[in-house]
Amino acid sequence: MTANQNIKPITTKINENGHLEIGGCDLVDLAEKYGTPLYVFDEETVRTIANEYKNAFKDYPNINMLYAAKAFMTKAICRVLSDEGFGFDLVSGGEIYTAHSAGVDMSKCLFNGNNKSYDELELALEVGVGKFSVDNFLELALLNEAAGAAGKKADILLRITPGIECHTHEYIQTGHLDSKFGFDLTQIDDAMELLLDEYKNLNVIGLHAHIGSQIFETKIYYDEVEVILKEIARIKEKFGVELHTINLGGGLGIKYTENDCPPAIDEIAKQITASVEENSKKYNTGDITIFIEPGRSIIGTSGVTLYTVGSSKQVPKGKKYVAVDGGMADNPRPSLYQAVYTAQVANKPDAPLAQTITLAGRFCESGDILIKDVKMPELEEGDIICVYDTGAYGYSMSSNYNRVLKPAAVLVNHGQSDIIINRESYEHLISLDVIPERLK
Ligand code: LLP
Repeated sequence: MTANQNIKPITTKINENGHLEIGGCDLVDLAEKYGTPLYVFDEETVRTIANEYKNAFKDYPNINMLYAAKAFMTKAICRVLSDEGFGFDLVSGGEIYTAHSAGVDMSKCLFNGNNKSYDELELALEVGVGKFSVDNFLELALLNEAAGAAGKKADILLRITPGIECHTHEYIQTGHLDSKFGFDLTQIDDAMELLLDEYKNLNVIGLHAHIGSQIFETKIYYDEVEVILKEIARIKEKFGVELHTINLGGGLGIKYTENDCPPAIDEIAKQITASVEENSKKYNTGDITIFIEPGRSIIGTSGVTLYTVGSSKQVPKGKKYVAVDGGMADNPRPSLYQAVYTAQVANKPDAPLAQTITLAGRFCESGDILIKDVKMPELEEGDIICVYDTGAYGYSMSSNYNRVLKPAAVLVNHGQSDIIINRESYEHLISLDVIPERLK
């Protein structure tokens, strides 16, 4: 069993006050001290999962772990994961800038993305990002130019669409053939010819793929490795170029509800290493260096969101809605992907589940529902709701819809809580607004 198979952070318990506690901190106290909505991240869960990844691959000599920063990134999280030996999968100038300012070893980072700008490529080269996953023909040209201008040779992987479909929400599938990401396998030859004949500032070292996110299947990773190694063998035969690096992306799922059964990290590690061992022999590729870039499975289970209960409405002969002080702006996943979450009441986690309610957000949209038809105790204004598994793709996809301030985030560990993102203020909110002279 690995921590991604729990709904709750591993330090979650009910304490002597009868309240929920995470990382040794009473969640009701945290809500009082920092206000709500509040994201709470459990450092022990993050570090445990990071170590579960390391252990799962410990028998494979050439493995590199990158954390997919898009799931949740702050300078403090960069510190924690760098400390655990992870590099970072970065997808924008903003993510590169954040990692660099947090003191991350940029040579352990990879720049990913399907439409990187010249400025972003320049920034990546300037701060010494180690590798680039090149997605398309335009990027080959831009990166070759930017690397030349910087007097550098860039190590690149070609991102491919491996033609593998996984069973997840269609918005988060990426490896199927009709996808905006990467080179189709039929385009690889043209890319290789350009690399050999024209783009002298690029050094191709491998191939990259990512098949999707919130994946529960394991064999799919075996298949992904096989597709990539077969392609590496074909490239060697046709162009005489030997590639030894493969990046398999992220994707391992987490347990949002009792109905979700994600595999343990070891199970996907076994599929990956078995496939590399078997297929590198079968296709005679030589030793292979593996990169993986998990995001959600590292940070998802580690984070929860605390909300305060406000108004409620009983529709005559219909549903009961209970509204909290956050919603789709701090967690757009229910409205975007019909994602389902588990929640508990932090100040009375043991109270009998006396009613079925719909937990609604505070934003001006009927679709702003956090959890539909969830069993809850009797609720009153001021109760603190803890929604689990909001660590990934919550803050990172949050917005200021309705000009509501973005919440704060705290990192908890052994009874200590520290702010890692300040709550926005009204001054922050208007800080980028400009009134043109003629309107004054
Ligand atoms: N590598 C690449 C190239 C990716 O595109 C992604 C995620 C990852 C790694 C990390 O995948 P993970 O281990 O987190 O599944 N916003 C959606 C998820 C989008 C995932 C995008 N790419 C959600 O909230 O479910």
